[in-house]
Amino acid sequence: MILIHNGLLVSTDGLQRADVLIDGERISAIVDPQATIASQLTDVQVVDATDLLVFPGLIDVHTHMRQPGGEQKEDFYTGTGAALAGGVTSIFAMPNTSPAITSRDTLGVALDLAQQNAVCDYGIFLGATNINMRLKADNPDLLECGLKMYMGSSTGDLLVEDFGAQYEHFQLYPRDRVIAVHAEHEPAVRYFSLHGERRPHIAAEVEVARAVALAERCNRRVHVCHVSSRREVEIIRDARARGVPVTCEYAPHYLFLTTDFEHGCVTEERTRELAEFAPGDALDPLALYQMNPPLREERDIDTLWANLDVADCIATDHAPHTLEEKNSAKPPSGVPGLETMLPLLLTAAHAGRLSLSDIARLCCEGPARTFNIPAKGRIAVGFDADITLVDPREQWTIGERPIFSKCGWTPFAGWHVRGAVKQVFLRGRPAFVGGKVVANHGAGKRISN
Ligand code: DOR
Ligand code: ZN
Ligand code: ZN
Repeated sequence: MILIHNGLLVSTDGLQRADVLIDGERISAIVDPQATIASQLTDVQVVDATDLLVFPGLIDVHTHMRQPGGEQKEDFYTGTGAALAGGVTSIFAMPNTSPAITSRDTLGVALDLAQQNAVCDYGIFLGATNINMRLKADNPDLLECGLKMYMGSSTGDLLVEDFGAQYEHFQLYPRDRVIAVHAEHEPAVRYFSLHGERRPHIAAEVEVARAVALAERCNRRVHVCHVSSRREVEIIRDARARGVPVTCEYAPHYLFLTTDFEHGCVTEERTRELAEFAPGDALDPLALYQMNPPLREERDIDTLWANLDVADCIATDHAPHTLEEKNSAKPPSGVPGLETMLPLLLTAAHAGRLSLSDIARLCCEGPARTFNIPAKGRIAVGFDADITLVDPREQWTIGERPIFSKCGWTPFAGWHVRGAVKQVFLRGRPAFVGGKVVANHGAGKRISN
């Protein structure tokens, strides 16, 4: 047994000083630290958490693990290692791999790779196509964590832009499961691209409105990925007020970065920091900070922060690409994020922008509730002993510590943060200790939700 002694437990109810007793894979008791429970037990290993915060292991419902087919960017071992380093003990992986995960066979291949290599728990999305609407209905035993629909194009070749195909997926995918959408209106993306403008926010607004209308008409759950702009927030808030079953996630890069970064306005210092960290690479900020949807203006960011209550989850959209790819003539979209989400949020909490309870709601309880994940997201008796110990006072600079993601860089290099992940337990086993991943390949288990 393991006793996490005298830490400050974080939940949506607030902070509570308590001891957490772990028996096997589960939390077996939460007791008053004065109770000296350790002396009454034999065979107990005590972990002193005085001065530390005790979070439920974070759940990131939006990551790209790049397997199969993108192993130069990431694989299940390096990606889930990056998760642990960031205090994340559960990830959902997106299906825009090569080949894309759109069938029983391709899902099986990805699940096998994850089973052999993952060091945190995982789920894998099935990708919607223009022809696979019946797949889940015909194969209820498929082990996907949800359906991902690219209503607009992004990395990879998944795209369901036709209204009829979208509608049929909304009608046919089981009602008790989640459809997560990348909502950018493809005709708008194309139109503006022809006119030299990259994915303006009207593209996201139009398609989020459509996703909400489909959810309302078909009376089914939809989850909007990476909300990035003002109007999207308003559309979702209004829909929810009408009773439409829509959930959504915010991504850290839209909360912390603006178009200033891609325009190079603040990149002189940042470029130097990044260059120090990846010597020899000529770094074009426009390529480096390119993502779908793109970074937005200050007022959009302010709206996200002012409407944190609209978000059900914060999810990283961890989308690693190598610096070589980013420096190529056709740079791919996306940035890594698993290792930086929690330190950035803790820093924001220190600055008073959100509370520690908000972090527990958005990174632990909310994701578990949104995706019906059993026995995770809270520190409670009978729940999985997924636990992240954090030193809220430790100050450090992103980029000066080893990076676990195979892509080897971060858009937040040089940022001074306050709050560091000290130790992570995955179902009762130490998984990240002393800055190192100690879990073995395959220690992660598929989450059945
Ligand atoms: O910027 C992005 N990168 N947006 C996406 O929707 C996909 C992701 C990727 O897979 O690279
Ligand atoms: Zn997306
Ligand atoms: Zn994504």
